[in-house]
Amino acid sequence: MTSNSKNTTDATVSVWDLGVRVFHWSLLIAVFVAALTGFFGSPDSLGIHLAAGVTISFLVLFRVIWGFSGSTYARFRSFLFAPDAAIKRIKDMMAHRHVRYLGHNPLGAWMIFALLVTLLLIVSTGAVVLGGVFKQGPLAFTTSFATGRLVQEIHQIFAFGLLGLISLHMAGVVYETIIGKETLISAMITGKKPNISDVSQPRAVRAKPLVALVTFVAFGLGGTFGVASFAARPALGVPVAALDPLYAKECGACHFAYHPSMGTATLWDGILSHLDQHFGEDASLSEPIRAQLAAYLKENSSEHWDTRVAHVLATANPKEPLRFTATRFWTRMHREIPDKVFASKAVGFKGACNACHSDAKTGLFAPQNLEIPEEAHL
Ligand code: HEC
Ligand code: HEC
Repeated sequence: MTSNSKNTTDATVSVWDLGVRVFHWSLLIAVFVAALTGFFGSPDSLGIHLAAGVTISFLVLFRVIWGFSGSTYARFRSFLFAPDAAIKRIKDMMAHRHVRYLGHNPLGAWMIFALLVTLLLIVSTGAVVLGGVFKQGPLAFTTSFATGRLVQEIHQIFAFGLLGLISLHMAGVVYETIIGKETLISAMITGKKPNISDVSQPRAVRAKPLVALVTFVAFGLGGTFGVASFAARPALGVPVAALDPLYAKECGACHFAYHPSMGTATLWDGILSHLDQHFGEDASLSEPIRAQLAAYLKENSSEHWDTRVAHVLATANPKEPLRFTATRFWTRMHREIPDKVFASKAVGFKGACNACHSDAKTGLFAPQNLEIPEEAHL
């Protein structure tokens, strides 16, 4: 199809096959969505962020397979250049010498590999963050919150690195378009470029779409199955037992029963020691019941769990050490919610976590289970 003898007779030549073009523009959209939700999203956009991340993983998988089964210029072999070829390209650019390539030029080729590797690093660190911080996904069974938080920083650094690479990539396209008079953008849409005799002379090969499809489906299904079976394992440090019925009854009488993993042993001890003056209410209990609840809460306090809430609500505010709603994390997270929303009939007060977090009673507080009731805004 793109044998070199034929190239020299046609005015235009097909360079980017359909696989490369669809990959390129789909990736652009997926990365845009992932970056937007990652840098500017609120917790409830985590679902979209994850969907974009999964899409990117599948796209990169496809591109790797296509690098071995696509047509001439899609193959990695056609743009494997030694580092000094890329350096020479920079020198040529500085000397205003423009050497034309039909496929990727050496510098562009290194950029493609850098982008692919960075995307893989971002997606895999993302899975660690999801597992450790949110206790979801394939790595939740083995990743601690501390690891998740640390890797979250690395995930962000890679994300900034990707933005840097994308800027350079776009600068390269602008340079090639203006200085090199190349038609790179339209080539990535139509696949065609004005013909030249290619200096890099890659061996012309046909695409093998069927081979690519079968490989993609095999790896895609295998990966999905692996992820699903890992994700089905119990998450590390997440409580699964139902609430103690006595606790649920006694401490769920006036407000929803806070999951014991939300409070430190000190907080629970403080609450149970002053039940007769419980935030202006008398919540006194008989001594045997009080002692039983004290033992239950102590045994299941935040120190025993590794969920996000167990960590972030653990630093008490010295002014109001017995309130979750006085902690720095809580105030920061909810500062944009107007007081009238909390006071509304649908919510009641700040401590009515379950009005907006549908999984509050489990202590998990997943971002996906978060919604302010509509009536609360009226
Ligand atoms: C008689 C009703 C009543 C009972 C029973 C009760 N509480 Fe409360 N609780 C309240 C009230 C009222 C508040 C303060 C609400 C507000 O901030 O306006 C509160 C607040 C709290 C808070 C602070 C929430 C926050 O972060 O602002 C905790 C923790 C708490 N209760 C735990 C318990 C526990 C544990 C029990 C069981 C031993 C219990 N409560 C039983 C009425 C009750
Ligand atoms: C009126 C609804 C409402 C109530 C009540 C409420 N929250 Fe939230 N919460 C939200 C919203 C909305 C956000 C997301 C804020 C944002 O966009 O940054 C949030 C965020 C959070 C987060 C961070 C979510 C994440 O994944 O980043 C945690 C944890 C949390 N809330 C815990 C609590 C706890 C604990 C309580 C009860 C003591 C509570 N919330 C009460 C609405 C509520």
